[in-house]
Amino acid sequence: MNAIVVLISGNGSNLQAIIDGCAKGTIPGKITGVIANKASAYGLQRATAAGIATRVVSHKDYSDRASYDKALQQAIEGFAPSLVVLAGFMRILTPAFVQHFSGKLLNIHPSLLPKYQGLNTHQRAIDAGDTEHGCSVHFVTEQLDGGPVILQAKVPIFPGDDASTVAERVHEQEHLIYPLVVRWFCQNRLQQRGNEAWLDGNLLSVQG
Ligand code: GAR
Repeated sequence: MNAIVVLISGNGSNLQAIIDGCAKGTIPGKITGVIANKASAYGLQRATAAGIATRVVSHKDYSDRASYDKALQQAIEGFAPSLVVLAGFMRILTPAFVQHFSGKLLNIHPSLLPKYQGLNTHQRAIDAGDTEHGCSVHFVTEQLDGGPVILQAKVPIFPGDDASTVAERVHEQEHLIYPLVVRWFCQNRLQQRGNEAWLDGNLLSVQG
């Protein structure tokens, strides 16, 4: 059984989708720990309700990014994961951290990457007049929001939408594609090879 560690900063609705996938057996894995950088992250309550161990590693307790990431790495290793899932974990990670977990570190980003890396993606898509938006699951590399994409889902943007209506639409898709990618990983079907993502021996994408 694959051990999965999920990192969160907030609501944890993607965490919940993965908890549900494990409970239903569609994901052949077990979440051994959930780690947040904020004690107030609601996702910690979701984890506790599901009987999953939690830890808070607060960035406020560390003077610099390198020492924080080292502590975070140790906390993660304490749960012995074969997969580390970033689910709304709103921290930039150091190259050392990313390299340590290379090949087993996934992220979900609320845009159709490579468009709208960074923050405020829904508003930026609306402001640009886009009629299409979405979300992407990718392997994490040292390039922020730049690792090879595994799966994307598209949603429409309608006239009159605001960032919250678009976010809701995107979230629905996130809750479908993230558990699916985690399932693929746990089935040993998904691999990162350098800057490339592969599924079932087929090249999915190359980091741009
Ligand atoms: C999700 O929309 C995810 O794509 C985004 O944070 C949200 C977390 O929601 N991640 C990022 O913006 C990462 N750069 P959740 O806490 O309900 O899962």
